[in-house]
Amino acid sequence: MEVKKHINISVIIFITLLLLIMGGYVFFNIKTFVTYTETNVKKEENKSEEMDNTEKLLIELKNTPYYIEKRWERYLNYLEKYPDKSLEEIVRSVNANIDYEFYQHDIDTDTSVGPLMLVNKFYHLTSDYKPKLVKMTGEYTKGTSYFEVEAYEHLKDMINNAKNDNIILYNVSSYRSYETQEKLYNNYVKMDGVEKADRYSARAGYSEHQTGYTTDLNTASSSDHFENSKEFAWLSNNAYKYGFILRYPQDKEYLTGYKFEPWHYRYVGIEASEYIYKHNITLEEYYAYFVEQ
Ligand code: DAL
Ligand code: ZN
Repeated sequence: MEVKKHINISVIIFITLLLLIMGGYVFFNIKTFVTYTETNVKKEENKSEEMDNTEKLLIELKNTPYYIEKRWERYLNYLEKYPDKSLEEIVRSVNANIDYEFYQHDIDTDTSVGPLMLVNKFYHLTSDYKPKLVKMTGEYTKGTSYFEVEAYEHLKDMINNAKNDNIILYNVSSYRSYETQEKLYNNYVKMDGVEKADRYSARAGYSEHQTGYTTDLNTASSSDHFENSKEFAWLSNNAYKYGFILRYPQDKEYLTGYKFEPWHYRYVGIEASEYIYKHNITLEEYYAYFVEQ
């Protein structure tokens, strides 16, 4: 009788322990399951929130002026790198390829677009590229110089009309061959070092002086402060009417790659020059949006 009682107690204890262990096991598993489910739900929520944000951002980007569809991923990457920049700045910069390193994203420029061809730190001319040139005559230039034949008509027109307004303009540097540019750039590097020289002088093949569409007017030296002259004021208000743009404006170095050059004018044709002038954009941006895409 006593033995049976002991066995019963042992069985009860055993069953209780078993139940406790099983209960604990079930409880633990339920807890793990609940935590797992909760974490996943949260993850899903975060994911969809993230997606919502990306979608919102993409919609905002699409509505930003000069947005180019095929560059959407580059805009997002650049924004991730520079979260404080406005979307407008992001689009402008990426359109000017500023998300790439200078000279690392190297494109043989399309010369078939004539006066709209882009030559900068990403788009180069081959060493043998030579435009159709005409020799400039004495009243339009100081020293022997050549200009692209069609653009020359527009340059003469501009200089003549400036003269009617008592503004005297003349070329001091226009077409430069690859070899000439190479010598110039190398001299500047000797003088100032690569980093400084790269901000005001183009490497051979990367200078738009080689296009024949460019002229430095009256000076090519920043110490002359051409930006304070009445000639510069006239050009600022009138050059676009003749198809010319101020190619390296003040405060646009982050887009053009060059310091302000108040004397450097580039013929792009009247349609483009009017647009660029009125919308205050650079040739880089115009090219990406209207020519290349
Ligand atoms: N000074 C301009 C950038 C050139 O060298 O073409
Ligand atoms: Zn120049």
